[in-house]
Amino acid sequence: MMTRRELLGAAASLPFLTAPSWAETKPAVITRSIPSSGELLPVIGMGSSRTFDVAPNSQMIAQLTEVVRLFFAGHGAMIDSSPMYGQAESALGAVLEKLGMPQALFAATKVWTYGTEAGIEQMQESSRRMRVPAFDLMQIHNLRDWKLHLPTLRRWKEEGKIRYLGITTSHQRYHPELEEIMRTEALDFVQFSYNIENRLAEERLLPIAADRGIATIINRPYQRGALFAKSRGRALPTLAQELGCESWVQFYLKWIIGHPAVTVLIPATSKPKHMRDNMGANVGQVPDFTQRAEMLKIFEGL
Ligand SMILES: NC(=O)c1ccc[n+]([C@@H]2O[C@H](COP(=O)([O-])OP(=O)(O)OC[C@H]3O[C@@H](n4cnc5c(N)ncnc54)[C@H](OP(=O)(O)O)[C@@H]3O)[C@@H](O)[C@H]2O)c1
Repeated sequence: MMTRRELLGAAASLPFLTAPSWAETKPAVITRSIPSSGELLPVIGMGSSRTFDVAPNSQMIAQLTEVVRLFFAGHGAMIDSSPMYGQAESALGAVLEKLGMPQALFAATKVWTYGTEAGIEQMQESSRRMRVPAFDLMQIHNLRDWKLHLPTLRRWKEEGKIRYLGITTSHQRYHPELEEIMRTEALDFVQFSYNIENRLAEERLLPIAADRGIATIINRPYQRGALFAKSRGRALPTLAQELGCESWVQFYLKWIIGHPAVTVLIPATSKPKHMRDNMGANVGQVPDFTQRAEMLKIFEGL
């Protein structure tokens, strides 16, 4: 039997057969293709900053295992972490092992240190901590020492140690340098913040990504939870219901998904109830240009 990676690799090389098996059987899941390969990914992924920073033997692991179980039950695939997130990689490793390393997992982490050798050691350590022999995606966290790490990531990709490479930020001050990197370097993925309140990425980052064929990962989709304060206690608008949203959470996620240059969103939660809600946006209708404009108007009127 083919492994998950072999299957995805074979599918990506055949333009008429780009959908992996889960996508064929779950047509309602919203997927986006990675421009550099054609591989399809479910649009809702998950982050792990703060939410998974617990000891791998703590009592919280049972709750977090349920969170990740619901993520895969909702047809999620990409899990994003970083050595910057305290014990998150180790907690994820413990959870993933409990769940038997789900086949759908698209494992992403980051290198976040200075120097070539330190970077290699950190990536090897991440692999041990998250119990993932080979990451699907390795990203350079916050552009740190990117000129040194990028050649290592290229070599690792050629050697099959990773499948994709990318770079991340969540800070506006890094945008000019990130734009330059996107314009001049060959990248599979770029990760930055974008949500209905912080729309800066629309101006340059998303258009450059579309133009250069770079997959985008959207972090902070809830502005670290700040969006909820605006809609708390407000009735869900008719348009949200027409789009199949059962909550403001899904309204906020669907608004992001409506941008055609968005590939994956990575909301983070430590609560099963919240994960169930998040995964409700992984299926169904996607708002069009006019509906997104209307959603923005609704948000601005809150
Ligand atoms: N430079 C970088 O590479 C970078 C920077 C920032 C973020 N990231 C990545 O992006 C991920 C997401 O960003 P983020 O964690 O900063 O912010 P976020 O996803 O916008 O917000 C997370 C907050 O939302 C809450 N939440 C999640 N789902 C909810 C729901 N359904 N209902 C109510 N509350 C909900 C969570 O609390 P509960 O636990 O209570 O649900 C958490 O406090 C990170 O975890 C990380 O993986 C990367």
